[in-house]
Formats: sequence, structure tokens, C-alpha cells
Amino acid sequence: MARFPVWDPFIRLFHWSLVLLFAANSFVIDPDSALHAPIGYAIVALIALRLVWGLIGSPYARFSSFPISQSAILSQIRDIALSRRAAHCGHSPLGSVMICNLLFCILALGGSGYLASLSGGAVFPWAEDLHEFLVAWVQFSIVIHIGAVFFESRRIGVDLIRAMMTGFKEIPRYRAKE
Ligand code: HEM
Ligand code: HEM
Repeated sequence: MARFPVWDPFIRLFHWSLVLLFAANSFVIDPDSALHAPIGYAIVALIALRLVWGLIGSPYARFSSFPISQSAILSQIRDIALSRRAAHCGHSPLGSVMICNLLFCILALGGSGYLASLSGGAVFPWAEDLHEFLVAWVQFSIVIHIGAVFFESRRIGVDLIRAMMTGFKEIPRYRAKE
């Protein structure tokens, strides 16, 4: 096993705070309660910080290190189809696409919530429908995200959830991809 430091403390704190706050606003707190909007804005603030960290943060946190290209995505799909065990030190190409989807759509969720809240929904009557659609889309994406984390952990033999807790990926001794 080789041990790579990949997720810095900010990324880990960001991830698990986002999980807690998102779950709270989706499933626990009543949308009509006074807590709903502040929690939503806290989520937006977390993501805004993550976007800054994507420019100045540690190497694997930077968006410039996300391996998003047609060839990298096709290569990962080929690896999956052929059950090839090739791990990425940072985010994988498909993982990076999912992260962009989640970050962007959760930001839009906060924005649509703000628009829906103006004068009790009288200013932008469509915003509440958009907010509800984005809630459903982000929840669907999260189900895929969690399923993919378990699937990829098994396929490549790396405990990805543990890595998001400890910061270290423990990769078996086969060739690791950047
Ligand atoms: C509200 C639910 C969730 C949201 C919104 C979410 C969002 C995200 C985001 C934005 C990232 C990228 C981290 C970064 O670079 O900033 C990420 C990565 C990750 N998430 Fe989640 N996540 C959620 C739930 C979970 C859960 C429940 C698990 C564990 C079962 C999990 C495991 C992971 C792992 C292991 C990674 C790193 C993937 C990799 O190795 O590339 N996530 N998640
Ligand atoms: C970013 C995280 C957020 C999540 C996960 C979230 C989630 C939800 C959910 C699950 C609903 C109920 C939808 C339904 O009835 O089917 C809702 C409704 C609503 N949300 Fe959010 N929301 C978020 C942010 C915000 C923000 C920042 C605001 C701004 C004030 C906001 C304002 C509203 C309003 C006005 C409604 C309609 C209230 C009602 O059903 O009476 N949300 N939200």
C-alpha cells in the first residue's frame, strides 16, 4: 500500500459540513421554519469558500487538477467496463464531473430559494418550482454520488470514504494515475 495525502483539512471539513447542512435542510428542518433560509445561505457560503479554495488551495483541491477531458472520461469508462483497477490520486474524471454538477446545482438551489422567498414568492412566481426541481435533481445526484463512491471503492480497492475522513488515500501497489 502507498499512502498519499490528498484531502486537506478544509476539503474534509467542507465536505462533511455540506453533508450535514444539506441533509438538515432537505429532510429535517421544515422549509417554512425560520432556520431554512439561514441554513441555505450557510450552504451557499460554504460553496463560495470551496470555489476560492479551488483556485488557491492544496494541489488536489484545485479545479486545475480536475482531470475533466473527453479522453480521461472515456478512459475511466473503459477501466470500469473492463474491471481494470486503476486509481486516481485526486478526483477521478467522472467524480470531477459529479462534483461540478453538485457545486453548481447547490449554488443554483440557494439562488432559486432566495428568489422564491422575495415577497412570499410574488416577485418570481416560477422560482419555487425551480427550487423544488433543483432539490429533486441534487438529491438524485447525491444518490448516484454515494452509489459511485461505494462502487469505485470496491472496483479500485481504495477506501474512498475513509480517505475523505483521514485525508489519506491508501492505494494498493499497482500503477496510480495522476
Ligand atoms: C449531502 C450529501 C453529499 C454531498 C452534497 C456531497 C458532495 C460532495 C462534493 C462537493 C465532493 C467534492 C469534494 C471537494 O473536492 O470539494 C464530494 C466528494 C466525496 N464525497 Fe460526497 N457528498 C455527499 C454525501 C456523501 C456521503 C454520504 C459520502 C460517503 C458515503 C460521500 C463520500 C464522498 C467521497 C469519498 C468523496 C471523494 C471522492 C473522490 O475520492 O474523488 N459523500 N462529495
Ligand atoms: C441550499 C440549500 C437548500 C435546500 C436543500 C432547500 C430545500 C428545500 C426543500 C426540500 C423545500 C420544500 C420543497 C417542496 O415543498 O417540495 C424548500 C422550499 C423552500 N425553500 Fe429551500 N432549500 C435550500 C435553500 C433555500 C434558501 C437559501 C432559501 C432562501 C430564503 C430557500 C427558500 C425556500 C422557500 C421560500 C421554499 C418554499 C417554502 C414552502 O414550501 O412553503 N431555500 N427548500
